[in-house]
Amino acid sequence: MTKSFKHKFDIRSSAPGKMKSIGGYLELQLSNESEYYPALLRLNTGRNALEYILKTKAYTLIYLPYFTCEVIMEPVRKLGIQYQFYTINEQMEPVLDFELGPNDCLLYTNYFGLKQETTIALRKRFANLIVDNSQGFFSEPVAATDTFYSCRKFFGVPDGAYLQVSGPARLKLERDVSVDRFSHLIRSIDLGIENGYSDYLANNNVLSGNPIRKMSVLTQSILSGVAYKACKYRRNANFMYLHDFLVNHNDYVFDASSVNGPMVYPFSHPSTSLREKLLEKRIYTATYWPNVFSWTTKKMYEYYLASHLIPLPIDHRYTHLDMKRIINVLKNHL
Ligand SMILES: Cc1ncc(COP(=O)(O)O)c(C=O)c1O
Repeated sequence: MTKSFKHKFDIRSSAPGKMKSIGGYLELQLSNESEYYPALLRLNTGRNALEYILKTKAYTLIYLPYFTCEVIMEPVRKLGIQYQFYTINEQMEPVLDFELGPNDCLLYTNYFGLKQETTIALRKRFANLIVDNSQGFFSEPVAATDTFYSCRKFFGVPDGAYLQVSGPARLKLERDVSVDRFSHLIRSIDLGIENGYSDYLANNNVLSGNPIRKMSVLTQSILSGVAYKACKYRRNANFMYLHDFLVNHNDYVFDASSVNGPMVYPFSHPSTSLREKLLEKRIYTATYWPNVFSWTTKKMYEYYLASHLIPLPIDHRYTHLDMKRIINVLKNHL
């Protein structure tokens, strides 16, 4: 990561109004340091970053994992590209029982940010690899590999994506405006996370069907003020704290020797009541992903994952005390 002081002076002057104004009321003060990926393209959403790749590379067929979020289908449907689903094995690596043609691409999700080694290995085999790092913000892009990131999964922003795309083709884009997508983010500060939840769901809907745009000035400004090093450190420390206790109860076996700011702690367990038990104690966990239930059959591993994998929160808001609370709830039911 290189410090980019350039942005200190650039971002706001590109806001509507051309010449910088002087005087008037004071605006929200945001810390203005540097972004984590200053050299990557800045776009409005992860799904649109995928659209950018598909468009500029003119792929005609995409291989997609059954185990992913349905919004990935948005650009695929929009561009009318053919698609085929593939399965993953118990290491969450693709079962490669197909060949890629010259106009085909393979989308792989760096699950929870724990699959960097797999992305490196896949890249050696396939030039037409696309890495979805929406769950792996801190996983650096592999050289010459088309890769995108979704910022809202890791930080308090409503949208925003980074994109590394190889080749010379670039799209000319307008800049997005995200001012109307913030209510859940500010509501939760004043009134609590539960109070902002319905606005959060509404914002998820608002993100559908938007054209590819450059990242908004507002989102970029917030991302320029994040203490990335501290965020990554907390994620790693919380992850390892949970791992120490849960490793022997976890169905999902993975290599924890080089965690790098993962998104969540993936805890998979035969019990189907754990999510409910956590919820009762106001510990909220997502389902990855509800669409997988309709895309797969009950016999498939992906179906099992969607029903049994509990992504435990480990982000920068939490300390070991919070992790202990999670463990105390789980421990009574394992
Ligand atoms: C695995 C995965 N990839 C991509 C996306 C798309 O990111 P965005 O919401 O920024 O379009 C999401 C979620 O929305 C996701 O869960």
